[in-house]
This record gives sequence, structure tokens and C-alpha cells, in this order.
Amino acid sequence: MQPVPQSPDIPNFNAFASREELAEALAKEVAADLAHGIEANGKAALAVSGGSTPKPFFEALKQQPLTFSSLDVTVADERWVPATDEDSNEKLVRDHLLTDGARFISLYNGASSAEAGEEVAEEALRKMGLPFDVVILGMGPDGHTASLFPGHPRLEDALGSEHRLCFGITDAPKPPPERMTLTKHALLQTRRLILHITGTDKKQVLEEALKPGPVSELPIRAFLHQDDVPLEIYWAA
Ligand code: 6PG
Repeated sequence: MQPVPQSPDIPNFNAFASREELAEALAKEVAADLAHGIEANGKAALAVSGGSTPKPFFEALKQQPLTFSSLDVTVADERWVPATDEDSNEKLVRDHLLTDGARFISLYNGASSAEAGEEVAEEALRKMGLPFDVVILGMGPDGHTASLFPGHPRLEDALGSEHRLCFGITDAPKPPPERMTLTKHALLQTRRLILHITGTDKKQVLEEALKPGPVSELPIRAFLHQDDVPLEIYWAA
């Protein structure tokens, strides 16, 4: 489980020989942070991303020796479907990460639309009590992260709001179109911020995003080019 040496071109870049090794190493790192949080504060808070990339990481984290009953878990974004739906990020987390005792804070609350569900989701996040110990972001091939999509009419608000923790998103280009995303303000309230990506295509997008340019074109830039908390990248081909 040897990380390949850091890339000279990308700051905080940890490359692994395989996706499995990445998942295992990331799980150990995250478990250590969460254990530290539990020791210091009596509980820890974790925000994970959905999609296909994190499944092996979830399975590896589940195996770590952690006091899961002291852990609160939520998602960086949720697809606006019930937790029984195959598209639900909550379902993904419940099926692959949660073990006995860990508490899941749902963003989906059954409102008729994500926008209609904003207030209740916001309240759930406030009750959870930020900061997070760890936030793990994913990234799409279009440079979106969470449900912060390029050129979306609500992108500016979701990136710029200083007080909102989440925003309802309609017409997302990645299905399903109705989603709830944490804001940049919420996602940066974390002790540790990690971007977990795989594939050479996504590495190329990352390299592009590292160059100066509009955040609205590649929203991941909002997390790469900020000074609040360093973004660490975990990658395998
Ligand atoms: C979602 C996400 C999303 C995801 C990226 C990467 O619910 O769709 O949270 O932001 O992290 O789209 O998805 P993949 O891992 O499937 O490539």
C-alpha cells in the first residue's frame, strides 16, 4: 500500500497503484481523523459524496476499528429521491458504509421538490453541528463537485452564500435532475477536505481546473483555489 510519489505538478496529490489501494489508504486516514475527533469531542462528523467512485472506500472504512456509534454521517449532495431508491446517495451510504450505531443525517425529507425541502434540510444540518471532521468530495468529468454544476443558475448562490448550508438544485445535467447540494460555505467547514477521484480523464480535468479560470466553468475550482482548508487529492488511474 505504497502511495506513488507526489506529483510535482499538482499540490497535495496522492496517487495510488490501484483503486483498491487508494480505498484502503483513504479509509485508514479518514478513520484516524474520525477517531481523533471522537477522542477530542466525544463525536465526529463526516460528509461523503455519492456516485460510483466511493463504494470501495465505504466498504474499507466500514472495516476500520472505529466507534461508529459516535459518528454522524451525511452527504455532500443528495439526489431528490426517497432513501429506498437505487439513485439515492443515502441508500448507497446505508448499504455500504453504515454499521450499527452510526447516525445518518438525511438531506432528503420527502418535500415535493429539493427547493421546497431546503429549510428542513438546512435545519437537519444545523442540528448536526458543524464543523465536519472530514469532507470527501467527488468530481464529475465536467468539473462539478457535490451538486455544484457548471453554468447552473443557482451555482453562484451555492458558492457565494455566507450563511446557507444547502441549496435545492433543479435541472442538474447529471441525472436525477432534482438534487440538494451542500454549499461551499458548508463544505469548507471541515478540519480535513479530500477529493477522491479515479481515472486519467478526471486527472486531466483536475489539471485544467488547477489553471486559473472561471469557477462557473469548472466548479471544483472553488475548492482548489481557496485558503480556508487545503484540498488533498486521492487518485488512482
Ligand atoms: C452525485 C455526486 C456527484 C459525484 C460525482 C462523481 O450524487 O452524483 O455526489 O457529485 O460525486 O458526479 O461521480 P462518480 O463517482 O460516479 O464519477
